[in-house]
Amino acid sequence: MSTQLEYQVEPAFSHLSSSDWDALKPRLEAARSETLADVELLTSGAAIPPAKQPLDSGFIMLPANLLAEQEKSGAASLLGEMKATAEKRSAVDRFVVLGIGALTWVCGPCLKHSATHITMSSSRAARGDIPRLYFGGNNIDNDDTAGLLEVLKSASNYADLANRWGMTVISKSGGTLETAVAFRLFRDVLEECYGASSKEVTELVVPITGETGKLRDLSNATGYPAIFPIPDGVGGRFSVFTAVGLFPAAVMGIDIDALLQGAADMTERFRTAPIGENPVLDYTGICHLLEEKKGLSTRILSTWGSRLEAFGLWYDQLLAESIGKEEKGALPVTVVNTRDLHSRGQQHQEGVRDKLITNVIVKESSTSPVAVPKVAADRDQDQLNRLNGKAMPELLDAAIKGTNKAYAEVNRPTADLVFPKLDAYTIGQALQLFMLATVVEGRLIGINPYGQPGVEAYKQNMGEILYGK
Ligand code: PA5
Repeated sequence: MSTQLEYQVEPAFSHLSSSDWDALKPRLEAARSETLADVELLTSGAAIPPAKQPLDSGFIMLPANLLAEQEKSGAASLLGEMKATAEKRSAVDRFVVLGIGALTWVCGPCLKHSATHITMSSSRAARGDIPRLYFGGNNIDNDDTAGLLEVLKSASNYADLANRWGMTVISKSGGTLETAVAFRLFRDVLEECYGASSKEVTELVVPITGETGKLRDLSNATGYPAIFPIPDGVGGRFSVFTAVGLFPAAVMGIDIDALLQGAADMTERFRTAPIGENPVLDYTGICHLLEEKKGLSTRILSTWGSRLEAFGLWYDQLLAESIGKEEKGALPVTVVNTRDLHSRGQQHQEGVRDKLITNVIVKESSTSPVAVPKVAADRDQDQLNRLNGKAMPELLDAAIKGTNKAYAEVNRPTADLVFPKLDAYTIGQALQLFMLATVVEGRLIGINPYGQPGVEAYKQNMGEILYGK
């Protein structure tokens, strides 16, 4: 079976004229060339022209570069150091990830076990020897924060592995208030749990931050033994292949080499494959043309099964924050089906004709099929014996086919992004596909996809309210 991600353009493609598609091809080629030229520009040391600032094209070659460095320097490479630090997960059974950019844990679907399995399973062995994962510092919610702090500090014996916890704090700028406030609160509780002068208060904290900033200063002053960088030239939402995504993934036992290899292979496909066989260019082209020619300015990422929700939320952030500028940019909306067929399906079938639906379909589940049991005829009041013992994957497949047929019958365009299965290699491909497609679209419509100047306005107002002018 192929391990490649495939983007299937039909039936959305049939909503476009071939002349429109042909006219787009040279523009797509130009956007690809510009995207790749930006990699050279960033590394050349030449001055970045004002129109190109900020330029965060560092994410494009990062996966291949990290793997090459590991090949050369082994344990002394950045990946080697991250893996060694991640091994310290054996010292904790709860791992807290603080950060805004890291709030949707996009690597989650690569795990062998589902989120439910990890959260509910009290046995560490049954969880695959990985700690439970918690998120914080991505919002300002008193009850949620108080609840998590309470869980962490309620034990009496912190020598017992089941009660031991550690954390990573992630902020490139080091100035994000939500994360900074949480970090101060969680540091306090860490001292309460282990003792203010214990080795745990530094050893069980891993800051991940830019080369300069408040978090970098605080981390250096405190003397945390491991501090991982978020390099210049890689922006927050594009930083999944820095320690931001890789370190939590390694703590959870994910094969980060496979994740990076998937991303590196997608970059290579993007660089070399012609339009028509290039998932990045084909996806960008279909989305762009359907918006421009048919007014489909809402992009529904229709994920099937429940494991890709966080991935979809990250993509919402990526597209919205990158392209939503200068009064342009499609609206990304992630849905999780079949759940959301019961909430949004009506609108997708009969609402305003402004939506392109991209299905995200996983061919093979990670666990053995769960079949619907047959029961004696006198207990078949729910009439499910008609399913004849079919398993969940067959039910989901019927839902996907039935929904797409219903959309096709009323001329609602759909396309499919097909994962052979969910693992580190396919998730790596998908993350890079979407990051590259977002940048190519920005270049296509003359929007700088990097940076998020509009977000500053609320931050400044909030600062004035809190600290005064
Ligand atoms: O994409 C971006 O740059 C933003 O969404 C940031 O990730 C987010 O604002 C968090 O910033 P920081 O990592 O500096 O705390």
